[in-house]
Amino acid sequence: MQRRPFLQFAGLGAIALASAAASLPAMAQASGPFKIGLILPMTGQQASTGRQIEAAARLYMAQNGDTVAGRKVELIVKDDVATPDVTKRLAQELIVNDKVNVIAGFGVTPAALAAAPLATQAKVPQVVMAAATSSITEASPFIVRSSFTLPQVSVAMGDWAPKNGIKSVVTLVADYGPGNDAEKFFTERFALNGGKVVDKLRVPLRNPDFAPFLQKVRDAKPDALFVFVPSGAGAAVMKQFLERGLDKAGIKLIATGDVTDDDQLNDMGEGALGVVTTHHYSAAHPSALNKKFVEAFEKANKGMRPNFMAVGGYDGMRIIYEALKATGGKGDGQALLDKMKGQVFESPRGQVLIDAQTRDIVQDVYLRKVEKKDGKLYNVEFDVLKAVKDPGKAK
Ligand code: DHB
Repeated sequence: MQRRPFLQFAGLGAIALASAAASLPAMAQASGPFKIGLILPMTGQQASTGRQIEAAARLYMAQNGDTVAGRKVELIVKDDVATPDVTKRLAQELIVNDKVNVIAGFGVTPAALAAAPLATQAKVPQVVMAAATSSITEASPFIVRSSFTLPQVSVAMGDWAPKNGIKSVVTLVADYGPGNDAEKFFTERFALNGGKVVDKLRVPLRNPDFAPFLQKVRDAKPDALFVFVPSGAGAAVMKQFLERGLDKAGIKLIATGDVTDDDQLNDMGEGALGVVTTHHYSAAHPSALNKKFVEAFEKANKGMRPNFMAVGGYDGMRIIYEALKATGGKGDGQALLDKMKGQVFESPRGQVLIDAQTRDIVQDVYLRKVEKKDGKLYNVEFDVLKAVKDPGKAK
């Protein structure tokens, strides 16, 4: 009489134990921290990119908590000084020693490309938050991009310029991946629309001196100068464009939004007023979500205005967090990657999609003009192309 209940109890206990054992591997995995290795240029010429992205990643974590699906999220920030050899070594150390679940960041194209083979080999997702050469996503099936591509934004200018009285152009680009993309995709579209490309100039990426190039542009007297330089170099271009009197000579400046970078724009002075650019993010984007984002970012960072790099970092964190949630905290590379593909969400920049086929971002591209608002300079959006895919992929 007394043994039955005991046996029943023991039986139940055995079942409970068995099910606990069955879920043990998952529990063991779910108990350790989920590590994100964030490789960024924190010093050197590209340091503003690192500063913006780290601040945005930390803001995302402060707003969304540092525990996801039962896993504590740990951010490990490393400075690669935008030097590919260093990027590669850091990616290797993060994957092998720190056993990170994701590598992320990548301020410039050569850095993103240097890490790609390691992502492939280790099956670790690589979230590219800044670098923007079209071909990057093809360097590894484990790459997902939250930034943009130069073809995406340059084609829009190739359509806008000829419709707005610009018939002849000289192009000036930083001489590496994204600059070559900007030059190619702008000039092809501009020429297709009947525009004349007078000259194509390329400036070195490292310590560029724009003066001799701008003198050449002045002598060529095109209707406009089209520019791409990476984030951080725009203010120098603007200064020398004005100092050499290109505006007074009747030459318009048109560019990708990397030039009228929100990180520097307000310090460029009145000479920047009226400059038209194409890009995927402006701090002045008039959505409720963006207003909240800009306010919170400025509050957390002594008034620093977020630029397009910050948004790439913020959305990259969102992509990682949601993938981790969707895998129930598993953190396995292939499973995470699968849940990154196809994400659709509202970003501070507008609606975005991570294309499941290309793993690249599909987003709105805006026409913007530099204007004064509340005494400050902003890229004010005046037109939009909806849901633009990277034109570099259509081969
Ligand atoms: C890249 C870097 C930038 O700072 C930028 O504005 C665009 C592209 C790059 O190296 O891919």
